Amino acid sequence: MSLTLLAIESSCDETSASVCRDGKILSNYIANQTVHEQYGGVVPELASRAHLQKIVPVVDVALKQAGVDINELDAVAFTQAPGLIGSLLVGAQFAKSLALALDKPLVAVHHMQAHVLANLIPERRPEFPFLCLTVSGGHTQIVRANSPTDLQVLGETIDDAAGEAFDKSAKLLGLPYPGGPLIDKYAKEGDATRFRFAEPQINGLNFSFSGLKTSVLYFLQKERASDPQFAEKNMADICASLQATIIRILLKKLQKAATETGIRDLCIAGGVSANSGLRTAFVELGKELGWRTFVPAFEYCTDNAGMIAITAYHKLLAGETADLSVSATARSEWH
Ligand code: KG4
Ligand code: ZN
Repeated sequence: MSLTLLAIESSCDETSASVCRDGKILSNYIANQTVHEQYGGVVPELASRAHLQKIVPVVDVALKQAGVDINELDAVAFTQAPGLIGSLLVGAQFAKSLALALDKPLVAVHHMQAHVLANLIPERRPEFPFLCLTVSGGHTQIVRANSPTDLQVLGETIDDAAGEAFDKSAKLLGLPYPGGPLIDKYAKEGDATRFRFAEPQINGLNFSFSGLKTSVLYFLQKERASDPQFAEKNMADICASLQATIIRILLKKLQKAATETGIRDLCIAGGVSANSGLRTAFVELGKELGWRTFVPAFEYCTDNAGMIAITAYHKLLAGETADLSVSATARSEWH
């Protein structure tokens, strides 16, 4: 029997809808919110309002691009947690109303599980158990996936996320929000060995990025004292050195997790996995150590409903549906 579902993602500042049939993504439409640019970060109240304005047209586009009529849907899925509560509520209410109107099952999806399972979208997929380094604006985790519905967090950040390390350093450099993609762009032209920044010494599989941010702050304060234009003049080398440091911190722990678990199928996921330096370094390390490496397509790295759809598909196969009393939650403990 064929299974067609609609998924909604609205946890932060992207309104996205995706249609998936039998585990194949037919559409993945993402509307970015530009309203936040002038504020240097996402303004929660503005994000919820923008979701309210966009949710109906975004779903409409996703259905049209997939060539699917709303009455053909067998289930409706949404991001239940974690995220900005006002933003999550828009997607949750929309999905619940639609599921009720169509009298179809509702599936509540955890955003971080979905980032990991984005690796099940392409035809070339990791085999279970696999490890995933999930790096986004809010999270940095090493996850062991035993099955689509059995994920275990082996390590995570104790302070800033990797995306914050990029974005906060970019802000210190005078770059607009979100700075991650800009650091990536400048880093391509720079010398990664020119500057050195602090690398944390944390035991186990956890991460820490707050020391790196402080080290960038002091470095820039010192250099700007003698040359106020120091950052502008050396942007490419600073970005390349900074990016290389973040990548070293991430891959060192991923390598440790692979050694400790003996798992050889490794994935990356989340917004920071769109970073070209990380993608290359990850694949190179994999070649050196004999891993099979998996990297999602760009559109499935940053927040998108396609990853919610693939997760909902596997949850449906496992019989994990939600009832209409389910609510969105901003924070959610996960394993
Ligand atoms: O997964 P995501 O879209 O949203 C969250 O769930 O947080 O991740 C957003 C994060 C931001 O910190 C952004 O700067 C970072 O991903 N990011 C990048 C790149 N593209 C997005 N960081 C470094 N290099 C990139 N190319
Ligand atoms: Zn995300």
